[in-house]
Amino acid sequence: MDLKTELFKAAKEAREKSYSPYSKFKVGSAIKFKESSEIFKGCNIENASFGGTICAERIAILKGISDLGKLTLEAIMVVTDSPEGDPPCGLCLQTMSEFSDESTMVYLANCSEIKQEFTQKQLLPNSFILSK
Ligand code: THU
Repeated sequence: MDLKTELFKAAKEAREKSYSPYSKFKVGSAIKFKESSEIFKGCNIENASFGGTICAERIAILKGISDLGKLTLEAIMVVTDSPEGDPPCGLCLQTMSEFSDESTMVYLANCSEIKQEFTQKQLLPNSFILSK
């Protein structure tokens, strides 16, 4: 199975675990780092205190980094049930930028197929960098 297909299946599985009683908007994500063959999955987990909600992408990335340490993302899959898929929010893009390079890919899918692909850099060309 190629990487895109593997990530798509994993993100769909993750989406099934979405805890989203407030928005009813289920999101699943799956990521792979360049230096590891492991795939990490995440779903959105909401909270009655809405600001406590965490997006699927950040859960997947932070699960991976907390297990393996700082690595570089090869690809990120995001699955929603919108016809064209949905791009990650700004906060998730900023988190991705911390662990991405020029070739990190972001794939957007609905529940049936992958619909769009971008480099992470295309989605957030000028991310914040702490320069001091
Ligand atoms: N959400 C994600 O999981 N990823 C994003 O990039 C955007 C939004 C979630 C958060 C919340 O549970 C629901 O989608 C609606 O905003």
